[in-house]
Amino acid sequence: MKVAFITGITGQDGYYLTKLLLEKDYIVHGTIRRASLINTERIDPLISKYGNDRLYLHYSDLLDSSSLTNLLNKILPDEVYNLAAQSHVSVSFKNPIYTTQVGTLGSISLLEALRNTNKSIKFYQASSSEMYGGASKTKLNEKSPFDPKSPYAASKVFAHDVTKLYRESYDMFTVNGILFNHESPMRGETFVTRKITRAVGRIKLGIQEKVLLGNLDAFRDWGFAGDYVEGMWMMLQHHTPDDWVLATGESISVKEFAKAAFEAVNLNWKDYVEVSEKYFRPNEVEYLLGDYSKAEKEIGWKPKTSITELVNMMVESDLKLAKQEKVLIENNLLKPTWDNPKS
Ligand code: NAP
Ligand code: GDD
Repeated sequence: MKVAFITGITGQDGYYLTKLLLEKDYIVHGTIRRASLINTERIDPLISKYGNDRLYLHYSDLLDSSSLTNLLNKILPDEVYNLAAQSHVSVSFKNPIYTTQVGTLGSISLLEALRNTNKSIKFYQASSSEMYGGASKTKLNEKSPFDPKSPYAASKVFAHDVTKLYRESYDMFTVNGILFNHESPMRGETFVTRKITRAVGRIKLGIQEKVLLGNLDAFRDWGFAGDYVEGMWMMLQHHTPDDWVLATGESISVKEFAKAAFEAVNLNWKDYVEVSEKYFRPNEVEYLLGDYSKAEKEIGWKPKTSITELVNMMVESDLKLAKQEKVLIENNLLKPTWDNPKS
């Protein structure tokens, strides 16, 4: 049985990757952070199913390098997936030092822990299309230049470079997956796609009136997270380590995503979306479009889910959530809102 170690197991990708690996008969160890409220909600169904058997959780933090070393020495995994990050671009402008510490020191601490434990452990780094900066409309591939536009993106460039550096310097199996945006019903609610589909569900059921958004003209290459975690795993099964882009090869604007999501419940987005300065960023990544041909050729990966399927999947799931909330509202346990206060 193979053993995997995942940082960021409580996040969107952590959920899908853990599910995939458990279905492949792996033993999975993941790091969680202590919070005042328990935050394992996404992986709770997996804990119920595999928690006494093949899924183990450990308190750690990417900034606590000793905990990483201790865990790796004890677990001796075959594969390490570094998914942990302060992953919200807008928040990275508000908490730049913390975001940078986790992204840079956190990643190199994990690589050092690996180097000192066993250099043959395979390592996946969650690199990002944000590193490209989005100033050109060309299809971006593994050779395209980086031009980071946020503290988050700058820290991802460091982690990307150092992952490659350890591969070249120490002959370690370290891989960068340069992933374009990927979404799902598990997506954090403050990322734009989920913010929109959450609003669509609530507006359709009459428990929210409007949704406030920022730049509607940004374009993203949006895929389904479930497809992308399979690509992460495929990268670590390849005979040689390298860097690969995962994307869909299609890009649409925030406006087009909102239009499609509202249309899925027969509503017109223009009646419900308002623009607020609050959601504009100090610097914007305007356009991202990825070229996944290297991954298709070398590791046999390609996206399976279309943007229409993704929008419908997210809207359907958020309609179900809104129905549950409506029951709470009818029992005076929750209040209807104008905009989602948690966004
Ligand atoms: P996410 O939902 O925000 O999850 C981030 C995870 O990192 C959470 O489990 C979080 O734990 C954990 N984390 C944050 N700070 C940490 C720290 N200091 N120490 C340990 N763990 C920490 O992100 P995601 O969408 O799953 O993305 C996974 C990774 O891929 C991230 O590195 C992200 O930057 C990168 N990425 C994502 C996309 C995308 O479109 N989703 C695209 C390219 C790259 P808590 O639950 O305790 O907060
Ligand atoms: N979050 C958010 N909220 N974004 C908005 C809003 C809003 O109300 N209105 C417009 N946007 C625009 C943002 O300005 C950005 O151009 C675009 O929608 C996408 O924003 P996010 O969904 O926050 O994602 P992101 O592209 O900044 O970052 C995500 O993808 C990266 C990969 O390219 C994150 O998952 C990163 O961790 C990841 O690396």
